[in-house]
Amino acid sequence: MPSEITSLQEQIQAFKQQKRAIILAHNYQRDEVQDIADFVGDSLELSRIAATKECEIIVFCGVHFMAESASILSPGKKVLLPEENALCPMADMIRVDAPRPVINSFPGFDTPPSYVYPPEFSLRDIKRKYPGVPVVAYVNTTADIKAESDICCTSANVVKVVESLPGEQVICIPDKNLSMWVERNTNKKVIAWDGFCHVHERVTPDDIRKARAEHPDAVVMAHPECRIEVLEMVDHVTSTSGMLRFATSSNAKEFIVGTEIGLMHRMRNENPDKIFYPLRKDMICPNMKKTTLQSIIRAFREESHLVKVPEHIRVPAKRALDRMLEIK
Ligand code: 13P
Ligand code: SF4
Repeated sequence: MPSEITSLQEQIQAFKQQKRAIILAHNYQRDEVQDIADFVGDSLELSRIAATKECEIIVFCGVHFMAESASILSPGKKVLLPEENALCPMADMIRVDAPRPVINSFPGFDTPPSYVYPPEFSLRDIKRKYPGVPVVAYVNTTADIKAESDICCTSANVVKVVESLPGEQVICIPDKNLSMWVERNTNKKVIAWDGFCHVHERVTPDDIRKARAEHPDAVVMAHPECRIEVLEMVDHVTSTSGMLRFATSSNAKEFIVGTEIGLMHRMRNENPDKIFYPLRKDMICPNMKKTTLQSIIRAFREESHLVKVPEHIRVPAKRALDRMLEIK
């Protein structure tokens, strides 16, 4: 690499060209990571790009399940996750054929959930209990869970996915909040799992009341991973990129953003005349923040950490992802 290249950003650009790579970043990534990415988006947008974009290497700045989905969709590309331990705790809340782990603490989660997760069920137990009922797996799941499911969904398309399925019932895993929200917005009976996102689960109705009192003219948006009693109180429920589009197209000037605070970087850049307030300042996903410019450089230098799914899991998991991507 030429010696005059000094800044981290310049090193990344040089590696990108040399290795025919693209950098994908989720909307929750650190500001400086979003700024060097080729594409920044929500889970659905990033999986569409991973499936179609020509390149040799995808550096996925997000969490493990996202890189795994990219590898499932594009097995011919090298998919690198700069931080090996950037995991989504929700994705670990359901296992194919084993009890789930007992959940009792998360980094940055001050108020532990008041309920206990009975660890005795597996996905196969639920499928046995409801034979023939289609399983919809949120993309925030591991590859082996996707492989056992009929179709995937993201927060951007969950209503369309559920409505596309035959019958009156669906099993939705693993996020109980997303499941309750989709039941409210479709005519289906949803059999839900009791997983959750610790970043969104912490939001309470009091937070909404407080935010509205502080900013009475602001429009309140929230991600469907928030609790149903919170979603009932807000003005707009949608995915991360859905919030961005809404903020851009709306005539309102002020917005309360009910999701991980990383999304506000794009919102502010793309809407300099509008004001964005976090619903809670502590809506920070510690796993999304693990990736730094330094870890991206290391990922390029060492071509690590390679995310690759074994073929016997990849093929059925791809079927579930492809079915989702076919839905317009
Ligand atoms: P989106 O699909 O809305 O980007 O959300 C992903 C996620 O991890 C939310 O916590
Ligand atoms: Fe997982 Fe929540 Fe982090 Fe999204 S914000 S990656 S659901 S822990």
